Order: sequence, then structure tokens, then C-alpha cells
Amino acid sequence: MTAARIEAPAAAPEVATWQHRHVLDLDDFTRAEIETVLDLADRMREVLDRRIARVPALRGYTVMNLFYEASTRTRASFELAGKVLGADVISLSATQASVQKGESLIDTARTLRAIGADVIVMRHAASGAPYLAARHTDAAIVNAGDGAHAHPTQALLDLYTMRRHFDSLEGKRVVLVGDIAHSRVARSDLWGLAAMGAEVVVCGPPTLLPRGLRAADRPPHAAAALPAVEVETDIDHAIAGAHVVIALRLQSERQQGGLLPSLHEYAALYQVTAARLARAHPDHLLMHPGPKNEGIEIAGDVATGAHSIIEEQVTNGVAVRMALLYLLAGQGTRPAPPTLARTDAEAAR
Ligand code: NCD
Repeated sequence: MTAARIEAPAAAPEVATWQHRHVLDLDDFTRAEIETVLDLADRMREVLDRRIARVPALRGYTVMNLFYEASTRTRASFELAGKVLGADVISLSATQASVQKGESLIDTARTLRAIGADVIVMRHAASGAPYLAARHTDAAIVNAGDGAHAHPTQALLDLYTMRRHFDSLEGKRVVLVGDIAHSRVARSDLWGLAAMGAEVVVCGPPTLLPRGLRAADRPPHAAAALPAVEVETDIDHAIAGAHVVIALRLQSERQQGGLLPSLHEYAALYQVTAARLARAHPDHLLMHPGPKNEGIEIAGDVATGAHSIIEEQVTNGVAVRMALLYLLAGQGTRPAPPTLARTDAEAAR
């Protein structure tokens, strides 16, 4: 009988370009920093593909999920990401709506830190809530969605998923279709895609498009609330030649009344359908951050069709969130985490 082969420990990932104490949005991320996350996510995918997908890299660290809004994918994938890396993971839901009171949010973040949280992953209905928490605790804060403002970890997993199919996003036509104005995913995607050099197009009815997205519509020297992109109200025009189409849910919970004549009319004009995708690049990818409403923003057949990589986005979300937890764990008051070795004994060598 031959001795079981012990594989060499995975080397410590190269994270020299990473500077962030928190992940609040991608507006302050350089392309090199985004690439650091995506490269590390590749390493995390390897860990996830192991027969026993567990490494002790974050043993002794504590990740707390604090979700003031509903979530399926984001919360479950952060929980799994922490557990695969060996961290203790505690998840709390705060469903009551009255937590708009800044004090209670600050107190909660401080309390979680006092209990031992190294990283707090936070989703909140108020734009800016994670920024407030970051100012008042020395735990690392990850924004898992704040109001209509930002959802940086979704954007990073979107970029990662695109990069797995196209080596580079430089010059790739990426079209976001739907409720851009109320979508935190769209906002963070725009920053990330702009940093990666993609040709970004947003498409939707005028009532669901934020103002000032076209470079020509901006006052000179104004600070940009979002990167300048191509704006289309005609979906066929927008999709023509697209390498990636991202369909977005109507964020009805954040809309004021009167923005759309009817759901039926919206679907007739803006639903992503097979007939419309026929104008895209032959190798196009179809994405959606979920949860999707088939028959409204996306047709059921294309959502599960050959070009759809919607499920792959969800899988990649675990790897990207592992990469972020790993990077953040080394930035606080705690020492940098060790390698991605399979066991503590390997890591100590
Ligand atoms: C998104 C969100 O919560 O912002 N979902 C997600 O995290 N995958 C998008 C949405 O709610 O439509």
C-alpha cells in the first residue's frame, strides 16, 4: 500500500494590492484591486472543488451577518463562504422597520464587535447605513446591499463570472436592462465595469433611468455620482452586438407610484426575450442577480436557456465572498490569515 500523497500547502495568496478596511462600494476600487479579488476568487473556486471543501485559513475569526432586509443568495453564500474558510459565522436578522434610527444601528455594530465580530456583513434598507457602521466600529464592514445605493459583492461576482467567460472585459459591450434607477446592483456594476474597461450601456424606460448618466448631460467638472455610460430607451438598439445582457428586477419596494403605466406594458417593451437576444453577439451571456420575475423582466425560456449563466453567478458568489472575507480578515487588528492549506498542520509548515 502506498502512503497517501500529501499535497504541498497552497501558498499564501498574493494580496499586496489590497488596501481596503471595508467593502462599501466599488467607486473607490482600482482595476488592480478588483483583479486581486477576482484572482483570489479563482483560488477559492479550487478550494470549493476539493472533495472536502474546508480550510482552516480563518479559524479563530468571527463573521457576523446582520441582515435588516430579506435575502436568499447573498446571506446563504456569505454564511457558506465563512464556514468553508473555517470562521465562526453568526447570522442575525433584524426585520423590524424602525431601525432607520442611526443610534441603534451604531449600537448594534458596536455590540457585535464587542462580542467578537471581525467582519460584519450588513444589508440595510437605508442607503449609507454600512458607512455609518464603518465609522463607529473597528470591525470590517461589508455592504451586502444598502437601499438603492450599492451592492459591491454582487458586482464583484458579476465581474468574476464575466471574466471566467471572456479573458478580459476591455471593450466588451455589457447592457443592463430594467430598473436602473432603483437598483443597487446596477450602481455597483457600473463602477466595476467602468474600472475594467467595458463598454457599458443602460436601458430602460426614461422613468427608471437615473439622470446625468450620459457624459454630455453632465455639468463640466461636476463630481460624478456614477460613471458615464451609453443610455438607451430602445431595447433592440441597446442589445445589438451585446456580449453580456444583465436583466434587472423591477425594485417595486423602492419605487414611487406612477413610474410605469402597467407591468404588462413594461414587459412588452423591456422584457429580455429570445427574439431580442437574437440581435446580441452570437456568444453572448445572459445574467440576472436574482431574484428574477420570469415573464416580467426576463422570459422563462431564456432564463434557463443555453446563454444563461444565472446559476453560475450564484455559485461564483461563494468564491468571491470567500476572497473578500479572507482579504478583510488581514486588514483589521488581527494578524493576516494563513495560507489556503487543507489542515492546520500544513499551514504551520
Ligand atoms: C439584489 C438585491 O438584493 O439588491 N439581489 C441580490 O442580492 N442578488 C437584487 C434584487 O433584489 O433585485
